[in-house]
Amino acid sequence: MYNEELGFSAPIRWGMVGGGRGSQIGYIHRSSARRDNVFNLVAGAFDINFERGKEFGKSLGIAEDRLYPNYKEMFEAESKRADGIQAVSIATPNSTHYEISKAALEAGLHVICEKPLTFTSVEAKELEELATKNNRVFGVTYGYTGAQMIHQARKMVENGDLGEIRVINMQFAHGFHSEEVELNDPGTKWRVSTAVAGPTYVLGDIGTHAFFLSELIVPQLKIDRLLCSRQSFIKSRAPLEDNAVVLLEYDNGAVGNLWASAVNAGGMHQQKIRVVGSKASIEWWDEHPNQLKYEIQGEPARILDRGMGYLYEDDHVNCDRIGGGHAEGLFESWANLYVRFATAMHAYDANEQDKVKDLIYPSVKDGVEGVKFIEKCVESADNGSVWVKY
Ligand SMILES: NC(=O)c1ccc[n+]([C@@H]2O[C@H](COP(=O)([O-])OP(=O)(O)OC[C@H]3O[C@@H](n4cnc5c(N)ncnc54)[C@H](O)[C@@H]3O)[C@@H](O)[C@H]2O)c1
Repeated sequence: MYNEELGFSAPIRWGMVGGGRGSQIGYIHRSSARRDNVFNLVAGAFDINFERGKEFGKSLGIAEDRLYPNYKEMFEAESKRADGIQAVSIATPNSTHYEISKAALEAGLHVICEKPLTFTSVEAKELEELATKNNRVFGVTYGYTGAQMIHQARKMVENGDLGEIRVINMQFAHGFHSEEVELNDPGTKWRVSTAVAGPTYVLGDIGTHAFFLSELIVPQLKIDRLLCSRQSFIKSRAPLEDNAVVLLEYDNGAVGNLWASAVNAGGMHQQKIRVVGSKASIEWWDEHPNQLKYEIQGEPARILDRGMGYLYEDDHVNCDRIGGGHAEGLFESWANLYVRFATAMHAYDANEQDKVKDLIYPSVKDGVEGVKFIEKCVESADNGSVWVKY
């Protein structure tokens, strides 16, 4: 059970870049980081527009002298304070992640950054190396990977409940951009611009979420090669895709497929993963995050529920905030991630990295893998949807 008694010496002094008023993802960072009093938001460069960001920061109760026009001034000024920030979350559009994360690591901060981590895997790798060199924690917010039933799925695969893994079926396919909504929606407009979003739209924006679920649940599978086909059904989005399908072959003979789409008309989020083994299958769907479907060949299907005694005994599975039957969801999953980020940060600061070696949270390494996945998909799709070695 997670609650506010986590035993940390003090909340981590924390700042944010981006995530300002009206942003899609800023609030969930703040509410998750502060859920268990593990982070204390004391500084920010929340907005590309300083005045708006300052007004917003003041409305959150942050002292005016710690509201900055940009991240550079924030890192510099905070590093001179005895009570300066120890960690920063970066919730800005994709094109800025690399430079802001790099500057944060160079300023000695722990970093939590949005996905897709960078435009290229070379940049992502550079961040990974810098985080290692500077002994800093670097988390990436693949939001649902703090959800208990995802970790139950991981344990089931690890313990052989499914038998040998044969097929992984992944998707994140919503319908919210079935029309050209970017004409009136700035949050979608940057997502279909190569300059701001990077080399892909849906593959990086949502495909990487589904991809990381598979990496977390079935970490032993290594991709051998993949083939991707991507489309811009709204023509003005080209070369960025609003729909993509990917076929994957793993080195043990297993196969996978991933569908990422923003034009799945009528679809809500439809983020799902099904893992098929030689004895049984499991399936998780983000619209019912408290449940995991467990189907053993020849037996009636079962629905496993969060918070129940029949689940695996594991810190990542048993981190409920309330007993089974009540709903937990995206916000609790994110809060679980933020608790783990804080746990890792305290351990690193005390030079006790060994204590957190079994702690599972999406790290910079997973961010690097996400960027590599995107790169390989583009390489395949833009060469006529051919198989490419991973
Ligand atoms: N993890 C998730 O589930 C999830 C969900 C949505 C978005 N995201 C990611 O979060 C990031 C932000 O997405 P969003 O939808 O919130 O975008 P958004 O356009 O809604 O908001 C971006 C915010 O960043 C601010 N900003 C832009 N450039 C800045 C800069 N240089 N310095 C300071 N502030 C700056 C803007 O003013 C705005 O407040 C993207 O990388 C996106 O892929 C992740």
